[in-house]
Amino acid sequence: MPSRGTLSVAVVGTGKMGADHVRRIQRVISGARVTAVVDLDEERAEALAATMDGCRAYTEPVAAMAAPDVDAVLIASPGPAHEAALLEALDRDLPVLCEKPLTPDAASALRVLEAERRLGHRRIQVGFMRRYDAEYAELKRLLDGGELGRALMLHHRHRNPSMPPWFTNEMLINDSVVHEMDVTRWLLGQEITAVTVLKPAPSSYAPEGMDDPQLVLFETESGALVDVEIFGHCGNGYQVRAEAVCERGTVRIGDEGGPRVSADGRWGGRVTPDYLERFADAYDRQVQAWVDATRRGEVTGPSVWDGYAAAAVCEAGVSAQREGRRVEVEMIERPAFYA
Ligand SMILES: NC(=O)c1ccc[n+]([C@@H]2O[C@H](COP(=O)([O-])OP(=O)(O)OC[C@H]3O[C@@H](n4cnc5c(N)ncnc54)[C@H](O)[C@@H]3O)[C@@H](O)[C@H]2O)c1
Repeated sequence: MPSRGTLSVAVVGTGKMGADHVRRIQRVISGARVTAVVDLDEERAEALAATMDGCRAYTEPVAAMAAPDVDAVLIASPGPAHEAALLEALDRDLPVLCEKPLTPDAASALRVLEAERRLGHRRIQVGFMRRYDAEYAELKRLLDGGELGRALMLHHRHRNPSMPPWFTNEMLINDSVVHEMDVTRWLLGQEITAVTVLKPAPSSYAPEGMDDPQLVLFETESGALVDVEIFGHCGNGYQVRAEAVCERGTVRIGDEGGPRVSADGRWGGRVTPDYLERFADAYDRQVQAWVDATRRGEVTGPSVWDGYAAAAVCEAGVSAQREGRRVEVEMIERPAFYA
Protein backbone atom coordinates (compact mmCIF):
# COMPACT_ATOMS: atom_id res chain seq x y z
CA MET A 1 0.00 0.00 0.00
CA PRO A 2 1.39 3.43 -0.86
CA SER A 3 2.36 5.47 2.18
CA ARG A 4 2.08 8.76 0.27
CA GLY A 5 0.92 7.87 -3.24
CA THR A 6 -2.66 7.91 -4.44
CA LEU A 7 -4.74 5.09 -2.98
CA SER A 8 -6.37 2.91 -5.65
CA VAL A 9 -9.82 1.87 -4.49
CA ALA A 10 -12.23 -0.84 -5.63
CA VAL A 11 -15.86 0.11 -4.93
CA VAL A 12 -18.06 -2.98 -4.48
CA GLY A 13 -21.74 -2.25 -5.15
CA THR A 14 -22.55 0.67 -7.41
CA GLY A 15 -26.11 1.45 -6.34
CA LYS A 16 -27.19 4.59 -4.48
CA MET A 17 -24.41 4.64 -1.88
CA GLY A 18 -21.67 3.07 -4.02
CA ALA A 19 -22.20 5.53 -6.89
CA ASP A 20 -22.18 8.42 -4.41
CA HIS A 21 -18.91 7.18 -2.87
CA VAL A 22 -17.38 6.89 -6.37
CA ARG A 23 -18.35 10.53 -7.04
CA ARG A 24 -16.89 11.52 -3.67
CA ILE A 25 -13.57 9.74 -4.24
CA GLN A 26 -13.22 11.07 -7.78
CA ARG A 27 -14.42 14.64 -7.24
CA VAL A 28 -14.61 15.64 -3.60
CA ILE A 29 -11.86 14.14 -1.46
CA SER A 30 -8.11 13.88 -2.05
CA GLY A 31 -5.55 11.08 -2.03
CA ALA A 32 -7.54 8.34 -3.75
CA ARG A 33 -8.98 7.30 -7.09
CA VAL A 34 -11.34 4.54 -8.17
CA THR A 35 -9.60 1.87 -10.23
CA ALA A 36 -12.29 -0.82 -10.03
CA VAL A 37 -16.05 -0.96 -9.64
CA VAL A 38 -17.92 -4.18 -8.93
CA ASP A 39 -21.60 -4.97 -9.32
CA LEU A 40 -23.65 -8.08 -9.98
CA ASP A 41 -25.37 -5.82 -12.49
CA GLU A 42 -22.69 -5.86 -15.18
CA GLU A 43 -24.20 -3.05 -17.22
CA ARG A 44 -24.38 -0.76 -14.20
CA ALA A 45 -20.73 -1.42 -13.31
CA GLU A 46 -19.58 -0.96 -16.89
CA ALA A 47 -21.52 2.27 -17.37
CA LEU A 48 -19.93 3.71 -14.22
CA ALA A 49 -16.41 2.47 -15.06
CA ALA A 50 -16.70 4.09 -18.49
CA THR A 51 -16.97 7.51 -16.81
CA MET A 52 -13.47 7.17 -15.25
CA ASP A 53 -10.03 6.87 -16.82
CA GLY A 54 -8.18 3.74 -15.73
CA CYS A 55 -11.19 2.13 -14.05
CA ARG A 56 -12.28 -1.44 -14.80
CA ALA A 57 -15.66 -3.06 -14.19
CA TYR A 58 -16.05 -6.46 -12.51
CA THR A 59 -19.00 -8.61 -11.48
CA GLU A 60 -17.11 -10.47 -8.73
CA PRO A 61 -15.48 -8.73 -5.71
CA VAL A 62 -12.79 -11.46 -5.68
CA ALA A 63 -11.65 -10.56 -9.20
CA ALA A 64 -11.37 -6.85 -8.36
CA MET A 65 -9.46 -7.54 -5.16
CA ALA A 66 -6.98 -9.69 -7.10
CA ALA A 67 -6.25 -6.85 -9.55
CA PRO A 68 -2.73 -5.41 -9.19
CA ASP A 69 -4.02 -1.83 -9.20
CA VAL A 70 -6.30 -2.24 -6.17
CA ASP A 71 -4.91 -1.12 -2.78
CA ALA A 72 -8.12 -0.87 -0.77
CA VAL A 73 -11.83 -1.72 -0.91
CA LEU A 74 -14.98 0.26 -0.23
CA ILE A 75 -17.93 -2.11 0.23
CA ALA A 76 -21.34 -0.66 -0.62
CA SER A 77 -23.24 -3.79 -1.64
CA PRO A 78 -26.32 -4.83 0.39
CA GLY A 79 -25.63 -6.09 3.95
CA PRO A 80 -26.07 -9.83 3.20
CA ALA A 81 -23.18 -9.60 0.66
CA HIS A 82 -20.75 -7.96 3.09
CA GLU A 83 -19.41 -11.03 4.92
CA ALA A 84 -18.02 -12.76 1.81
CA ALA A 85 -16.38 -9.56 0.55
CA LEU A 86 -14.95 -8.73 3.99
CA LEU A 87 -13.46 -12.21 4.46
CA GLU A 88 -11.93 -12.04 0.99
CA ALA A 89 -10.40 -8.63 1.73
CA LEU A 90 -9.00 -9.87 5.06
CA ASP A 91 -7.51 -12.92 3.28
CA ARG A 92 -5.68 -10.47 1.02
CA ASP A 93 -4.86 -8.09 3.92
CA LEU A 94 -6.59 -5.22 2.10
CA PRO A 95 -7.88 -2.16 4.01
CA VAL A 96 -11.67 -1.85 3.89
CA LEU A 97 -14.32 0.77 4.46
CA CYS A 98 -17.55 -1.23 4.80
CA GLU A 99 -20.93 0.48 4.66
CA LYS A 100 -23.16 -0.28 7.60
CA PRO A 101 -24.31 -2.83 8.61
CA LEU A 102 -21.05 -4.74 9.00
CA THR A 103 -23.15 -7.87 8.38
CA PRO A 104 -26.88 -8.52 8.89
CA ASP A 105 -26.59 -10.54 12.13
CA ALA A 106 -24.35 -11.04 15.15
CA ALA A 107 -23.15 -14.55 14.21
CA SER A 108 -21.77 -13.41 10.84
CA ALA A 109 -20.32 -10.25 12.42
CA LEU A 110 -18.53 -12.50 14.91
CA ARG A 111 -17.06 -14.56 12.05
CA VAL A 112 -15.62 -11.36 10.55
CA LEU A 113 -14.32 -10.30 13.96
CA GLU A 114 -12.58 -13.66 14.43
CA ALA A 115 -11.05 -13.44 10.94
CA GLU A 116 -9.64 -9.97 11.64
CA ARG A 117 -8.24 -11.15 14.99
CA ARG A 118 -6.60 -14.11 13.25
CA LEU A 119 -5.01 -11.68 10.79
CA GLY A 120 -3.51 -9.96 13.82
CA HIS A 121 -4.18 -6.32 12.95
CA ARG A 122 -7.21 -4.17 12.24
CA ARG A 123 -8.08 -3.71 8.57
CA ILE A 124 -11.79 -2.79 8.58
CA GLN A 125 -13.55 0.51 9.26
CA VAL A 126 -17.36 0.36 9.45
CA GLY A 127 -19.37 3.13 7.78
CA PHE A 128 -21.13 4.56 10.82
CA MET A 129 -20.72 8.03 9.35
CA ARG A 130 -22.72 9.97 11.95
CA ARG A 131 -19.53 9.97 14.03
CA TYR A 132 -18.12 12.31 11.37
CA ASP A 133 -21.08 14.73 11.40
CA ALA A 134 -20.01 18.10 12.85
CA GLU A 135 -22.98 18.40 15.22
CA TYR A 136 -22.72 14.84 16.55
CA ALA A 137 -18.97 15.41 17.06
CA GLU A 138 -19.73 18.60 19.02
CA LEU A 139 -22.31 16.74 21.14
CA LYS A 140 -19.70 14.04 21.85
CA ARG A 141 -17.16 16.71 22.81
CA LEU A 142 -19.64 18.32 25.23
CA LEU A 143 -20.57 14.98 26.83
CA ASP A 144 -16.92 13.91 27.16
CA GLY A 145 -15.96 17.33 28.59
CA GLY A 146 -18.10 16.61 31.65
CA GLU A 147 -19.28 20.19 32.26
CA LEU A 148 -22.93 19.14 31.81
CA GLY A 149 -22.58 16.20 34.20
CA ARG A 150 -23.61 12.64 33.39
CA ALA A 151 -25.95 11.97 30.44
CA LEU A 152 -29.22 10.61 31.85
CA MET A 153 -31.23 10.25 28.66
CA LEU A 154 -30.90 10.60 24.90
CA HIS A 155 -33.88 11.35 22.67
CA HIS A 156 -33.37 10.47 19.00
CA ARG A 157 -35.71 11.30 16.12
CA HIS A 158 -35.15 9.54 12.76
CA ARG A 159 -37.72 10.36 10.08
CA ASN A 160 -37.68 9.43 6.40
CA PRO A 161 -40.06 10.87 3.81
CA SER A 162 -40.73 7.32 2.57
CA MET A 163 -39.04 3.93 2.29
CA PRO A 164 -38.48 1.71 -0.76
CA PRO A 165 -41.30 -0.82 -1.28
CA TRP A 166 -39.07 -3.75 -0.24
CA PHE A 167 -38.27 -2.21 3.16
CA THR A 168 -39.51 -4.45 6.02
CA ASN A 169 -40.34 -4.00 9.68
CA GLU A 170 -37.04 -5.67 10.62
CA MET A 171 -35.13 -3.32 8.32
CA LEU A 172 -36.46 -0.36 10.30
CA ILE A 173 -34.28 -1.78 13.11
CA ASN A 174 -31.39 -3.33 11.15
CA ASP A 175 -30.93 -0.62 8.53
CA SER A 176 -32.27 2.55 10.16
CA VAL A 177 -32.17 2.37 13.98
CA VAL A 178 -28.72 0.72 13.68
CA HIS A 179 -27.38 4.29 13.25
CA GLU A 180 -28.84 5.32 16.63
CA MET A 181 -27.45 2.14 18.18
CA ASP A 182 -23.94 3.02 17.07
CA VAL A 183 -24.16 6.70 17.85
CA THR A 184 -25.60 5.99 21.32
CA ARG A 185 -22.74 3.56 22.15
CA TRP A 186 -20.24 6.11 20.85
CA LEU A 187 -21.73 9.18 22.55
CA LEU A 188 -22.14 7.49 25.92
CA GLY A 189 -19.02 5.29 25.70
CA GLN A 190 -20.90 2.22 26.90
CA GLU A 191 -22.84 -0.76 25.63
CA ILE A 192 -26.60 -1.04 25.17
CA THR A 193 -27.92 -3.80 27.43
CA ALA A 194 -31.62 -4.15 26.57
CA VAL A 195 -34.13 -3.08 23.91
CA THR A 196 -37.91 -2.59 23.98
CA VAL A 197 -40.02 -1.64 20.97
CA LEU A 198 -43.39 0.10 21.32
CA LYS A 199 -45.78 0.65 18.44
CA PRO A 200 -48.50 3.27 18.23
CA ALA A 201 -51.49 2.69 15.95
CA PRO A 202 -49.75 2.83 12.54
CA SER A 203 -49.92 5.77 10.17
CA SER A 204 -52.48 5.25 7.42
CA TYR A 205 -49.57 5.77 5.00
CA ALA A 206 -47.65 2.77 6.41
CA PRO A 207 -47.37 -0.04 3.87
CA GLU A 208 -49.18 -3.31 4.50
CA GLY A 209 -47.31 -5.32 7.14
CA MET A 210 -45.19 -2.44 8.43
CA ASP A 211 -45.72 -0.90 11.85
CA ASP A 212 -44.77 2.68 11.22
CA PRO A 213 -43.76 4.67 13.24
CA GLN A 214 -42.15 2.78 16.16
CA LEU A 215 -40.61 3.86 19.44
CA VAL A 216 -37.45 1.97 20.33
CA LEU A 217 -36.05 2.14 23.87
CA PHE A 218 -32.47 1.26 24.82
CA GLU A 219 -31.14 0.70 28.32
CA THR A 220 -27.40 1.12 28.80
CA GLU A 221 -24.74 -0.25 31.15
CA SER A 222 -24.79 2.82 33.42
CA GLY A 223 -28.59 2.99 33.52
CA ALA A 224 -29.12 5.73 30.93
CA LEU A 225 -32.39 5.51 28.96
CA VAL A 226 -32.49 6.25 25.24
CA ASP A 227 -35.56 6.56 23.03
CA VAL A 228 -35.61 6.50 19.22
CA GLU A 229 -38.60 7.54 17.16
CA ILE A 230 -38.21 5.75 13.86
CA PHE A 231 -40.69 6.92 11.24
CA GLY A 232 -40.30 5.47 7.75
CA HIS A 233 -43.06 7.32 5.95
CA CYS A 234 -43.36 10.74 7.56
CA GLY A 235 -43.88 12.30 4.12
CA ASN A 236 -41.92 15.39 5.07
CA GLY A 237 -38.25 15.06 4.21
CA TYR A 238 -35.39 13.43 6.11
CA GLN A 239 -34.98 14.56 9.71
CA VAL A 240 -32.41 13.26 12.18
CA ARG A 241 -32.30 14.94 15.57
CA ALA A 242 -30.88 14.12 18.96
CA GLU A 243 -31.08 15.64 22.42
CA ALA A 244 -28.94 14.69 25.39
CA VAL A 245 -30.44 15.32 28.82
CA CYS A 246 -27.63 15.64 31.35
CA GLU A 247 -27.46 16.39 35.07
CA ARG A 248 -26.67 20.07 34.50
CA GLY A 249 -28.05 20.88 31.07
CA THR A 250 -29.29 19.62 27.74
CA VAL A 251 -27.85 19.64 24.20
CA ARG A 252 -29.97 19.43 21.07
CA ILE A 253 -28.64 18.82 17.56
CA GLY A 254 -30.11 18.31 14.11
CA ASP A 255 -32.58 21.18 14.07
CA GLU A 256 -32.87 22.40 10.53
CA GLY A 257 -30.44 25.21 9.80
CA GLY A 258 -30.23 27.14 6.58
CA PRO A 259 -32.00 30.33 5.70
CA ARG A 260 -35.30 31.12 7.42
CA VAL A 261 -37.58 32.84 4.96
CA SER A 262 -40.34 35.20 6.02
CA ALA A 263 -42.91 36.01 3.33
CA ASP A 264 -46.66 36.26 2.89
CA GLY A 265 -47.23 36.33 6.64
CA ARG A 266 -45.38 33.06 7.27
CA TRP A 267 -41.79 32.04 8.13
CA GLY A 268 -40.04 28.79 7.38
CA GLY A 269 -37.08 26.89 6.00
CA ARG A 270 -36.25 23.76 4.11
CA VAL A 271 -36.16 20.11 5.26
CA THR A 272 -33.41 18.02 3.58
CA PRO A 273 -34.97 15.44 1.24
CA ASP A 274 -32.69 12.48 2.03
CA TYR A 275 -29.63 11.19 3.89
CA LEU A 276 -27.24 11.87 1.00
CA GLU A 277 -27.88 15.60 1.42
CA ARG A 278 -28.40 15.67 5.21
CA PHE A 279 -25.14 13.81 5.91
CA ALA A 280 -23.14 14.87 2.82
CA ASP A 281 -20.38 16.45 4.92
CA ALA A 282 -20.24 13.44 7.24
CA TYR A 283 -19.82 11.00 4.31
CA ASP A 284 -17.09 13.23 2.86
CA ARG A 285 -15.21 13.42 6.18
CA GLN A 286 -15.63 9.70 6.77
CA VAL A 287 -14.15 8.69 3.42
CA GLN A 288 -11.39 11.30 3.62
CA ALA A 289 -10.45 10.06 7.11
CA TRP A 290 -10.39 6.46 5.85
CA VAL A 291 -8.19 7.36 2.87
CA ASP A 292 -5.82 9.45 5.02
CA ALA A 293 -5.49 6.75 7.69
CA THR A 294 -5.01 4.03 5.08
CA ARG A 295 -2.24 6.02 3.37
CA ARG A 296 -0.54 6.35 6.76
CA GLY A 297 -0.89 2.58 7.21
CA GLU A 298 -3.38 3.03 10.07
CA VAL A 299 -6.98 2.00 10.74
CA THR A 300 -9.16 4.47 12.59
CA GLY A 301 -12.91 5.02 12.98
CA PRO A 302 -15.65 2.54 13.92
CA SER A 303 -14.21 -0.96 14.20
CA VAL A 304 -15.44 -4.48 13.60
CA TRP A 305 -16.21 -4.55 17.34
CA ASP A 306 -18.58 -1.60 16.80
CA GLY A 307 -20.16 -3.43 13.85
CA TYR A 308 -20.57 -6.60 15.93
CA ALA A 309 -21.99 -4.71 18.94
CA ALA A 310 -24.54 -2.96 16.71
CA ALA A 311 -25.50 -6.29 15.15
CA ALA A 312 -26.05 -7.79 18.62
CA VAL A 313 -28.28 -4.85 19.61
CA CYS A 314 -30.16 -5.19 16.29
CA GLU A 315 -30.85 -8.84 17.06
CA ALA A 316 -32.32 -7.92 20.43
CA GLY A 317 -34.27 -5.10 18.73
CA VAL A 318 -35.83 -7.38 16.12
CA SER A 319 -36.84 -9.90 18.82
CA ALA A 320 -38.29 -7.08 20.93
CA GLN A 321 -40.20 -5.80 17.90
CA ARG A 322 -41.56 -9.26 17.05
CA GLU A 323 -42.36 -10.46 20.55
CA GLY A 324 -43.53 -7.19 22.10
CA ARG A 325 -41.32 -7.53 25.19
CA ARG A 326 -38.06 -6.17 26.63
CA VAL A 327 -35.11 -8.19 25.29
CA GLU A 328 -31.62 -8.20 26.78
CA VAL A 329 -28.66 -7.86 24.43
CA GLU A 330 -26.39 -10.91 24.25
CA MET A 331 -22.77 -10.12 23.42
CA ILE A 332 -19.33 -11.64 23.91
CA GLU A 333 -16.84 -9.82 26.15
CA ARG A 334 -14.96 -7.11 24.25
CA PRO A 335 -11.63 -8.66 23.18
CA ALA A 336 -8.46 -6.77 24.21
CA PHE A 337 -7.65 -6.61 20.46
CA TYR A 338 -10.45 -3.98 20.14
CA ALA A 339 -9.66 -2.09 23.36
N1 LIG B 1 -24.43 5.11 5.79
C1 LIG B 1 -25.64 5.38 5.33
O1 LIG B 1 -26.24 6.39 5.69
C2 LIG B 1 -26.29 4.46 4.35
C3 LIG B 1 -27.43 4.89 3.66
C4 LIG B 1 -28.00 3.99 2.74
C5 LIG B 1 -27.45 2.75 2.55
N2 LIG B 1 -26.36 2.38 3.28
C6 LIG B 1 -25.77 1.04 3.11
O2 LIG B 1 -25.06 1.00 1.88
C7 LIG B 1 -25.15 -0.32 1.32
C8 LIG B 1 -25.73 -0.22 -0.08
O3 LIG B 1 -27.00 0.40 -0.01
P1 LIG B 1 -27.66 1.12 -1.29
O4 LIG B 1 -28.78 1.92 -0.78
O5 LIG B 1 -26.61 1.76 -2.12
O6 LIG B 1 -28.24 -0.16 -2.08
P2 LIG B 1 -28.60 -0.27 -3.63
O7 LIG B 1 -29.60 -1.36 -3.72
O8 LIG B 1 -28.93 1.07 -4.19
O9 LIG B 1 -27.23 -0.74 -4.31
C9 LIG B 1 -26.63 -1.98 -4.06
C10 LIG B 1 -25.84 -2.39 -5.29
O10 LIG B 1 -25.06 -3.55 -4.95
C11 LIG B 1 -25.17 -4.47 -6.03
N3 LIG B 1 -24.91 -5.82 -5.48
C12 LIG B 1 -25.75 -6.67 -4.87
N4 LIG B 1 -25.09 -7.76 -4.44
C13 LIG B 1 -23.79 -7.59 -4.81
C14 LIG B 1 -22.62 -8.37 -4.67
N5 LIG B 1 -22.65 -9.57 -4.06
N6 LIG B 1 -21.46 -7.89 -5.17
C15 LIG B 1 -21.43 -6.70 -5.78
N7 LIG B 1 -22.50 -5.90 -5.95
C16 LIG B 1 -23.67 -6.35 -5.47
C17 LIG B 1 -26.57 -4.28 -6.58
O11 LIG B 1 -26.68 -4.76 -7.92
C18 LIG B 1 -26.72 -2.76 -6.48
O12 LIG B 1 -26.22 -2.09 -7.63
C19 LIG B 1 -25.98 -1.14 2.31
O13 LIG B 1 -25.12 -1.80 3.20
C20 LIG B 1 -26.78 -0.07 3.04
O14 LIG B 1 -27.20 -0.47 4.34
C21 LIG B 1 -25.77 3.22 4.14
